[in-house]
Amino acid sequence: MSTEVKKSGRLIKAPENFLSKEDAKSPALMRRKFLAASVSSAAASMAAMGLASNARAAAPVAGAGDPNILNLPTHTTGLGQPVAANPYGMPSQYEKGLQRRESPGLTRVSAASVAFTPLQGTFGIITPSGLHFERHHQGWWDIDPSKHRLMVMGLVKNPKVYTMDDIMRLPSVSRIHFIECGANTAMEWGNVAVPTVQYSHGMVSCSEFTGVPLSVLLEDCGIDMKKAKYVLGEGADGSSMTRTIPLDRALDDVLVAYGMNGEMLRPENGYPLRLVVPGIQGVSWVKWLRRIEVGDQKWATKDEAVHYIDLMPDGLHRQYTGIQEAKSVITTPSGGQTLLDKGFYNISGLAWSGRGKIKRVDVSVDGGRNWRTARLETPVLSKAFTRFNIDWVWNGGPAILQSRAQDDTGYVQPKINQLREVRGTRSIYHQNAIQSWKVAENGEVSNVQVY
Ligand code: MTE
Repeated sequence: MSTEVKKSGRLIKAPENFLSKEDAKSPALMRRKFLAASVSSAAASMAAMGLASNARAAAPVAGAGDPNILNLPTHTTGLGQPVAANPYGMPSQYEKGLQRRESPGLTRVSAASVAFTPLQGTFGIITPSGLHFERHHQGWWDIDPSKHRLMVMGLVKNPKVYTMDDIMRLPSVSRIHFIECGANTAMEWGNVAVPTVQYSHGMVSCSEFTGVPLSVLLEDCGIDMKKAKYVLGEGADGSSMTRTIPLDRALDDVLVAYGMNGEMLRPENGYPLRLVVPGIQGVSWVKWLRRIEVGDQKWATKDEAVHYIDLMPDGLHRQYTGIQEAKSVITTPSGGQTLLDKGFYNISGLAWSGRGKIKRVDVSVDGGRNWRTARLETPVLSKAFTRFNIDWVWNGGPAILQSRAQDDTGYVQPKINQLREVRGTRSIYHQNAIQSWKVAENGEVSNVQVY
């Protein structure tokens, strides 16, 4: 019987548990710490199993003396926990490391900050509600739904105030959509800034939302179609979040949503009511929605006239650029992870477009010289995450992994230098460039920019 451990395709997870402020500034330092930690924990588990580190032949092999098979664990012989021990189910204790996290040092006040989705650890296209990214301008609230009201007013014949019961009696739809903050990947405009995909791309999530089409509410209030051109959404939190939405979009696929992934919205994501504006940057998805106003011109509110604008190379700002263009990222292998051996790996990632469906994703392992077309997993939905996968056999040499998305309008995700030619390097929003992950000969994966 062979005593050789089969090692192909093993990977050390990204160091999601212990990113300090110091680490965030220096990806190299962080990798060194992680490797040191993983070496010592491997040594510790060998010791716990009674294996001296020089006793190589004693390493367990599946089916060949593995104590995990030979010694019956109590979960095979004992009585397990009763039903409803956790009335609201929680992830396994062994998955504790996978959490949304604040990027150390990014903001001064946690109530006006971001917690990023750990994209490196999610599967498929739905983001678990507890891992959905959070972005608040003035903290979040758990609002009593019996007291929450939505007012619809302005250029309508019958202005109305709806209770949550009123809204939940109306015809509803459920749709799967991504939401991406316009500032996702913002830190990477000028240079590489953060080590892992959680911090470089984690201001995007994808959920099934349930609610009433905004068109139904506007019709219910008798919208004045001759005069109306824009709709304003306003939130009930202290940030006075107000955003203008053009009428054609408001009547198209915008939802006034109360459901997310089969349950009510989580408080952090706008409970009990939020706008869902598919394909448009997250700031327009007004949370804790309390007012809709119909008007005939843009409101030029602070969050569209002064913030959420694009600084162009000539020093002028572009306003009202809401659409999130096609973008993709390889989530594994990705920054901070370490490939342990040569051999087979499944390269997996996510692609999305604010203009429609993803048509194709190409993957390169040599920094963009050669490309292969990845497999798109179903479902492929409009303005939603699309999961892609492709096989790769790592030969142990240096590699640069990239993915390039194309949507059904024919738009192709640009390289970082192509984007900079048009947008400069001092912008914040709408950074959708191709992401590069460098695999070093020692297996360490790091964030690099390739032109
Ligand atoms: N709505 C209100 N009322 N207050 C806010 O601070 N933040 C906006 C938007 N809606 C915000 C808001 C921003 S900038 C984003 S990116 C999304 O909500 C984030 O939604 P999420 O926290 O559910 O991920």
